[in-house]
Amino acid sequence: MLNYSIRQTPKTKAVNPSMLRYLLLRNPGHNRVYYLESENLALAELTLTTRRFEQACEHIEVIDIAGISYLTFTVGRPLSEIELTWLSSLSFIFALFQQPADASEAALQPVALTPLDYVDSKISMLLKYSGKTNEIFTRLMINVGLLSSDYGYADPIHLLDPVSGKGTTLFEAATYGFDVTGIEMDRKKVHETAVFLKKFLEQDKYKHSVSKRPMYSAQGGAEAYIQDFEYARDKESFKSEGSRKHLSLIAGNAIHSRRYFKAEKFHLIVGDLPYGIAHGNVSHKKHKSPTRSPAELMETCLPEFHQILKAGGSLVLAWNTFVWGRDAFAELLAEHGFQLLDASPYDQFSHRVDQSIKRDIIVARKA
Ligand SMILES: C[S@@+](CC[C@H](N)C(=O)[O-])C[C@H]1O[C@@H](n2cnc3c(N)ncnc32)[C@H](O)[C@@H]1O
Repeated sequence: MLNYSIRQTPKTKAVNPSMLRYLLLRNPGHNRVYYLESENLALAELTLTTRRFEQACEHIEVIDIAGISYLTFTVGRPLSEIELTWLSSLSFIFALFQQPADASEAALQPVALTPLDYVDSKISMLLKYSGKTNEIFTRLMINVGLLSSDYGYADPIHLLDPVSGKGTTLFEAATYGFDVTGIEMDRKKVHETAVFLKKFLEQDKYKHSVSKRPMYSAQGGAEAYIQDFEYARDKESFKSEGSRKHLSLIAGNAIHSRRYFKAEKFHLIVGDLPYGIAHGNVSHKKHKSPTRSPAELMETCLPEFHQILKAGGSLVLAWNTFVWGRDAFAELLAEHGFQLLDASPYDQFSHRVDQSIKRDIIVARKA
């Protein structure tokens, strides 16, 4: 007999015999520390995802079967195509099964996932460098952003990562077919990202073009440069402007976001804020010294982010709570007109990265 037990359950009610149970296996990825730390995050992401379903979901919980943990939920009827797409996009998902909800001994029937994959998801895994944000966590941030906004996959989403490093957020969002823009102040990183992307598009035979131009001129020369990549899966889709995708890299500074973009340009703003020492967080317009806390950077940037975000859009930022408390961040967001999403499960994303970093995400909307 299988060893079957419920490990985490908000409320356990009796299971209706006509219901279906779906069971999700999490991808252990290459980062075992994150895998072990992230069960609550996965449950929170799943909870938000089921809110987009066209039917009620119950018993969203973690169960153990023969020593392996699964995330599960029950529904009244098989998942629709769009429900399956939402589920297939979960950051952690590795495999999906179903069984009758009242028969925990029944065999698990595999269900094929239907990920979006406009660009092969290997794109965000190929580059390895210190300071890279884990791809699974990055995808979680993008998903939480989309789920918290008024938008869905059918919308022509444009996402901004204002602290884009070498592009993990941009690449993850490109797999969904979103248009994406990154701002990064370290020009070497921008250059390396552009070189990598060009090679990737060539090797994987995407039809593409790239153009570079100054974005904003200040005294003494251009302050920021943009490299625009336009690409499509094949020649035919590249011909029509509407079906081309865009990935833009700006060598610039997030504090000047409003100079670079018109108001209400982005549906989502998602980023992993600098962790200070390792990334040299230069924030203030006048002082160019590195600071450990992203507070100063956010004080300068949030008014600009609010202007360039569309109404109904959302902002998701990750940071180290050891250097700046969640309450202070929340207060600052509210001061700048953002609507904070703080109720459960939004309070379930905090996790340990290493001895000096306890990472959390904060999620806010523009009403
Ligand atoms: C945590 S890293 C992001 C890593 C990225 N998600 C990745 O996987 O490559 C934060 C980045 O923010 C950049 N940064 C710091 N201050 C900035 C600013 N004011 N404007 C733009 N980028 C900034 C740093 O150079 C660093 O690359």
